[in-house]
Amino acid sequence: MEKNNSVLAGEFSQNICGTYKRRDICFSRGNGATLFDKKGKKYIDLLSGLGVNNLGYAHPALINEIKKAAGGLLHVSNLFQIESQVELSRLIQKNAFPGKCFFCNSGTEANEAAYKLAMKYSKNVSPQKKEIISMLNSFHGRTMGSLSLTGQIKYQSSFKPLLPVTYCNYSNIPELKRKINRNTAAVFVEVVQGEGGVYIASREFLQELRSLCNYHQALLIIDEVQTGCGRTGKPFAWQHYDIVPDVITMAKGLAGGLPIGSMLVSSKYADILEPGDHASTFGGNPFVTRVALKAFSILTSPVFLQKAEKNAGYLAKGLDSLLAGKKSLLETRRLGMMLALEFKEGVNTDELAEKLSARGIIVNSIKNKIIRLLPPLVISKNEIDYALGVFKHVFSGLE
Ligand SMILES: Cc1ncc(COP(=O)(O)O)c(C=O)c1O
Repeated sequence: MEKNNSVLAGEFSQNICGTYKRRDICFSRGNGATLFDKKGKKYIDLLSGLGVNNLGYAHPALINEIKKAAGGLLHVSNLFQIESQVELSRLIQKNAFPGKCFFCNSGTEANEAAYKLAMKYSKNVSPQKKEIISMLNSFHGRTMGSLSLTGQIKYQSSFKPLLPVTYCNYSNIPELKRKINRNTAAVFVEVVQGEGGVYIASREFLQELRSLCNYHQALLIIDEVQTGCGRTGKPFAWQHYDIVPDVITMAKGLAGGLPIGSMLVSSKYADILEPGDHASTFGGNPFVTRVALKAFSILTSPVFLQKAEKNAGYLAKGLDSLLAGKKSLLETRRLGMMLALEFKEGVNTDELAEKLSARGIIVNSIKNKIIRLLPPLVISKNEIDYALGVFKHVFSGLE
């Protein structure tokens, strides 16, 4: 297999904690959905820096905004009023529901904030109301609260004891009905389990969950960290389901690649957190919120979303026709620009991802059986055609 920039590999293991299995590739520039490594080799990025670069690379309007924002204040602290936080909160509410935002720096922090909100809400109702429900195979982050919510043993086993959480099989209505009760303070759920392998919640499940949360006075908290910011064809993925959650968390695409996270709390619950309850030194600084205003307004514009949906459909159709008749394919799944190709036992998707990467296509392999695709929403038809050409070659070896 071709080695890229291998000089960096040793330097990495000597200087950087080994928390990631890194490919031996170092990117140096990009445009749209196209990346180039240090040797000038071209790649089509179908992963967007794990769902962050929804606007792709070197987006002109974003670069312009970053330049402008860099000349202003970078940081002032949350002891003072930050105008762009208000503007960003208004824009998020306009695209979601009325309420108030808390700003932080990442997805896991947004979920920590939501966890604390749920705990404080529950204490205001009754001392018994302290149970939190989350889904098996979910992913909510790596800090201890969010890790407790993450229903995957492989991430939790070395870090127990964690906070008590009741797990429910995803989209399993009978189990949900057995587990939710008046002591449930909140239910955390993803509309699409992205990191879990792009499993899409059933309409019946989310609607039943909404009505059960209403009945038991439990907060419905939807983690939109990966599915938000236009990723699924709407500003937020719950908007496909005719429900409205009480709280949403978001991060990844919100500032077009800069670190930011946010929790939007609906008006009814928006004043539960009070001064001293929660904080973040960097959270929502003037620079990042100004840039996020630009990124999020582009990402949620209907014309932009329509074009992205058209291209996502084009990519899915192309993949379907390449895989038509392949016995090794179990199923394909898609919501907007979130796609998965799940294969039957015997197909090694880690190896497939390596082969694709060697030929200049960046994808993600999950559980060695699923190829996850999270292309930038700006990916062009030409970039998709180029990628499909490589897929055709690499998939030709599959039964
Ligand atoms: C649904 C979801 N929630 C939370 C997180 C954690 O976000 P972060 O890595 O920014 O802490 C992720 C990250 O992949 C995610 O996909």
